[in-house]
Amino acid sequence: MQSPLNLNIEDFLTHYWQKKPILVKAAFKGFEDPLSPDELAGLALEPQIEARRVWRADDRWHAEQGPFDSYEHLGEADWTLLVQAVNHWHPEVQDLAEQFRFIPGWRFDDVMVSFSAPGGGVGPHIDQYGVFIIQGQGTRRWRVGLPQPLKQFAANGALRHCEAFVAEIDEILTSGDMLYIPPGCPHEGYAETPAMNYSVGFRAPNAKDLVSGFADYLLEHDIKSRRFDDPDLTPSAAHGRIDTAALSQVKTLMTELLAEPQRLADWFGEMISQAKHELALEHAEPSYSLEELVLRLDNDEPLYRLAGVRCFYMEGNAEVFYLDGERYQLAQPDAAAIALLCDQARICGPEVACLEHPQALLEVLLPLVNQGYWFFDEEE
Ligand code: SIN
Ligand code: CO
Repeated sequence: MQSPLNLNIEDFLTHYWQKKPILVKAAFKGFEDPLSPDELAGLALEPQIEARRVWRADDRWHAEQGPFDSYEHLGEADWTLLVQAVNHWHPEVQDLAEQFRFIPGWRFDDVMVSFSAPGGGVGPHIDQYGVFIIQGQGTRRWRVGLPQPLKQFAANGALRHCEAFVAEIDEILTSGDMLYIPPGCPHEGYAETPAMNYSVGFRAPNAKDLVSGFADYLLEHDIKSRRFDDPDLTPSAAHGRIDTAALSQVKTLMTELLAEPQRLADWFGEMISQAKHELALEHAEPSYSLEELVLRLDNDEPLYRLAGVRCFYMEGNAEVFYLDGERYQLAQPDAAAIALLCDQARICGPEVACLEHPQALLEVLLPLVNQGYWFFDEEE
């Protein structure tokens, strides 16, 4: 069992979150690596798991995408293996992510795990997302700067680097230390001894992506929209001019589409509940019937939500929730049922029994259990 995160959360949110980087020494006392370098290499063998390798040779940077089955040619130094969304496959890595529940779940992305041979690192770069980097076994020297004007360039294919930067933090991290790096802060880390690092990443959607995602949603759902109209047109004085009023109507036409609250909520809920990386979904075999589901819950067997499943609801709406890109609706509004589904990592029988409309929850839950989004721990 990992020791709890040793961080003054209020102080952190007030002074550092999305503001400036911080190094928290011994953030996890007696940190225990949730997986070994060999287990990480095992995950990097799997074609459905996203893995990258970055190394330096002949004064050049190299990068390649997995899967990988051999490391021998990389030698003893100057390379790193990075595996995305390890929390989807390794429950103990998900436990690490659970330490950050003080940040709303929709902001969380995944836990990326890296193993670096001495000298290994991905080079100086700037990420568009915020990240907590926890040092596991080994030691690694990290440098982190405040946002500063820096040129960025492709060091090799998809490997984007920035030029040399002024560091605010320049320290050697040992097991249990943690860095927080807000988006836009340049950073680089090179292992001193063979090192494991756990990066708990947080997404922050960008306005351009939101607009283009919303436009896709309108098209997919064949949403009807108004067309520009000008029935009161008077003779035009300047043939080449676009009137301010015309431009203003264009803006109104566009913003009207956003102004429908349920549409905005449904689009955002569906979009943000999509997992960026594959989930370890396993269909229940054989499928549960409603009676069997109730029986097991009554028998005090909790239902666990699969790691990495994104499940959210909108404040003020106790009827609708969004899971893995889909919208679901309870037969009756029930704030406690929605909270069981979306706020908690597991659902227990007595909690279901206490609901005002347990049947409404069970009906929506049954197909999700059969698809593997929630499961009973067969080893308990
Ligand atoms: C890592 O090498 O573990 C993290 C890479 C990064 O800074 O994004
Ligand atoms: Co980074």
